[in-house]
Amino acid sequence: MLACVNTIAMEGVKAVPVEVEVDLSRGLPSLSVVGLADEAVREAKDRIRAALKNSGYKLPTLHITINLAPAHLPKVGSAYDLPMALGLLAAMEQLPISSLSRRIFLGELALDGRLKPIAGSLPAAIYARNAGFEEIIVPEGNGLEAAFVEGIRVVSPANLLALVRHLLAVEPLQPLPVTDWQQWMREEKPAQRNLREVKGQEYARRALEVVAAGGHNLLMSGPPGSGKTLLAQCLPGILPPMTLDEALEVTTIHSVAGRLDPMRPFVGVRPFRSPHHTASQVALIGGGGNPRPGEVSLAHRGVLFLDEIPEFGRTSLEVLREPLESGDVHISRAALSTRFPASFQLVAACNPCPCGYLGSPHRSCRCAALRIEQYRSRLSGPLLDRIDLHVEVPAVPQEVLVAIPRGESSEEVAERVIEARMRQYLRNGSGISNARLDGFSLERHAGLGKEEQVLLLNAGQKLGFSARSYNRILKVARTIADLAAVEQIHTTHLAEAIQYRVGGLFSQG
Ligand SMILES: Nc1ncnc2c1ncn2[C@@H]1O[C@H](COP(=O)(O)OP(=O)(O)O)[C@@H](O)[C@H]1O
Ligand SMILES: [Mg+2]
Repeated sequence: MLACVNTIAMEGVKAVPVEVEVDLSRGLPSLSVVGLADEAVREAKDRIRAALKNSGYKLPTLHITINLAPAHLPKVGSAYDLPMALGLLAAMEQLPISSLSRRIFLGELALDGRLKPIAGSLPAAIYARNAGFEEIIVPEGNGLEAAFVEGIRVVSPANLLALVRHLLAVEPLQPLPVTDWQQWMREEKPAQRNLREVKGQEYARRALEVVAAGGHNLLMSGPPGSGKTLLAQCLPGILPPMTLDEALEVTTIHSVAGRLDPMRPFVGVRPFRSPHHTASQVALIGGGGNPRPGEVSLAHRGVLFLDEIPEFGRTSLEVLREPLESGDVHISRAALSTRFPASFQLVAACNPCPCGYLGSPHRSCRCAALRIEQYRSRLSGPLLDRIDLHVEVPAVPQEVLVAIPRGESSEEVAERVIEARMRQYLRNGSGISNARLDGFSLERHAGLGKEEQVLLLNAGQKLGFSARSYNRILKVARTIADLAAVEQIHTTHLAEAIQYRVGGLFSQG
């Protein structure tokens, strides 16, 4: 007896179809799983045995073969438990084969037959709808997430038995209502901090506004307690809000990472991720046996904040170069290679030296020159080169600290940022910020007059700019002109952009 069950595998953030075939034949009683299954899938045998037993079924004393097709596609994780168990029940003639067709199943089984949440049910539901299935079955904990998708019935049973009764039409389960995530989107508010709180730091505030307006990367250096972390946390609140499409895209990544809150499985505000410097490379970049998005992808369309950036391992920092350049990250393992989106804005912070007080008017630095040198050299040239704005954030003077903050609120700054973005989208194409301009478009949209060319050339000759530096300066100058609402880049805009390039303690051409 042969039964066939539809499920999916994840390829990056996309679900692709997989068929689970179960065959029973005479021979030595055994259960084998074939079809490029990983350890977790092979371990499913024991979970399925227990879950079936505890749901009142007994495995037949036959030779059982479970095949996962197509064979070339790696099958990882525990979401195959449910389709395999159902295939077995159908092969055992406990379920009509017809009850399995036009349906997609995924879920992990607990030993008592409960269905445990799995990652990726949102992209699975999108696939199921697009492929014309009538119904998708996901564990209870993933129901709201799958119900984002309109045009397909979503059923999320608590356990195997409830599902069997549904499939037998003995006790049909109600499909979930479509999640009103547009309502959630309207209710979301940025949880981050507000620029209203920030005292002093006019220069860094300005840099933050430029960064927000053009989608650039930022490095802040300064002593502890000067407000670097505070400023970084203000960035999401001054960025343009995500569109519905962007929110869905970000939510999908968080679904694949298994990071959504079951009660409110939605990311509607730009993410702010701040991994600790002890985070592993896999945690940062993504990967693992069952490849999951890392911090760079969880920060997609938002902010990746690396505090104390010299403390991150050199190899971890080097791998950031790819996503910074291309907006996605490539993960390859023996059997598969995957891409995850990773288009984030990098904000990095560091102290001027290991003890943090170099240049402080109040405390003296105790670091040896060699240690300072070593500390700074942990940031490689190519990485620094990809950070457009380098800004010093000095200690705030006492008299400013005791006074009430006088700066604008995030809401006021955000208005200018949104206007500057609109100018960019009109000129560069929808959704393309200045930071994302390619070389050719940059030539077209950031042309310089004679005077500006001379200024840039002089600065470049003095400071030894690389070709990438030139491009990055032009992009930042373009953004500064957009904030000033002018089409032509002037010397003042260019000079400000050059200053950000050569400012800060880690400056370089
Ligand atoms: N410029 C500032 N304006 C207002 N509060 C500040 C400022 N700088 C620091 N603080 C306060 O000190 C705390 C620690 O600052 P933080 O941003 O963590 O400093 P850093 O990251 O530079 O070490 C902040 O949470 C904030 O309450
Ligand atoms: Mg800090």
